[in-house]
Amino acid sequence: MPLVTTTEMFKKAYDGGYAVGAFNVNNMEIVQGITEAAAELRSPVILQVSKGARAYANHAYLMKMVEAAVELNPEVPIALHLDHGDSFELCKSCIDGGFTSVMIDMSSKSFEENIAITRQVVEYAHAHGVVVEAELGTLEGVEDEVVVEAGQASYTRPEEVEEFVTRTGCDSLAIAIGTSHGAYKFRPEQCTRNEKGILVPPPLRFDVLEEVTKRLPGFPIVLHGSSSVPQEFVQMVNQYGGNMPDAIGIPEEQLRKAATSAVCKINIDSDIRLAMTAQIRKHLFENPSHFDPRQYLKPARQAVKDMVAHKIVNVLGSNDRI
Ligand code: G3H
Ligand code: 13P
Ligand code: ZN
Repeated sequence: MPLVTTTEMFKKAYDGGYAVGAFNVNNMEIVQGITEAAAELRSPVILQVSKGARAYANHAYLMKMVEAAVELNPEVPIALHLDHGDSFELCKSCIDGGFTSVMIDMSSKSFEENIAITRQVVEYAHAHGVVVEAELGTLEGVEDEVVVEAGQASYTRPEEVEEFVTRTGCDSLAIAIGTSHGAYKFRPEQCTRNEKGILVPPPLRFDVLEEVTKRLPGFPIVLHGSSSVPQEFVQMVNQYGGNMPDAIGIPEEQLRKAATSAVCKINIDSDIRLAMTAQIRKHLFENPSHFDPRQYLKPARQAVKDMVAHKIVNVLGSNDRI
């Protein structure tokens, strides 16, 4: 099948009590690892491209790689999504260039400005058969050039969501309930430590999610910043020459719980980066004579595939849904 929008995917996910994974793609090995895992597990999948990914790989390369993945996995519903679009022009360029979904992220702007620009994107996108994700509330961390400092983040205010969705016409809504971007989601002082000395973060604000769901029944909710930063990969990075002290993510059980609710899309990027980097570090450490990139990119691609397969089965619950 050709690239799809997320409309049908989200409806099935909402009704089926699971979520679709949205994984960031930057190069061929990542596209291959994600789509091979989705095909083997019979899961729908969203491939998402950030502004930075487009600057790195070029729109045309990303598009052609995704087209190849669609051609090679005809049974898998695949949506191509712009992650954190920061202007109407960027969204328009992706819509004109073949994406089936875009995010306009005006969450750091005022409520009225967020509504105005989101509405403008929705009008253009819908006229071209493309769906739109918007965001209310801000997450801590770094998204491309936008840095939200610790303490500057704010949870979504449930009392705003109905007006926002009605006035913008957006198709899904990203909310802030305590997730954040990157591999350092919490400062150690925000956490407790378990008996192994591993940091345990504060729980997500499921009360906010519940309140949002009550006000928007049946409406698909999106969670950004949903990497779990598995400690075995952090240890692998550190063991083979890296330095990622106190890297910490969202516990997988919490995301699993979110996936059974109105949350239909869960964004994961950092865990893929971590899996690839840990594997490449290990490979080069153990094979110092290797210099053919295929020697380390092949196991790195497998690490992406294994990570995505793990998420599909253990976090998203999206396996055997096609
Ligand atoms: O939320 C941001 C994603 O992890 C993409 O990151 O802007 O470095 O490509 P990036
Ligand atoms: P992570 O950094 O937690 O993987 O989040 C990715 C994301 O939200 C992309 O939009
Ligand atoms: Zn994000």
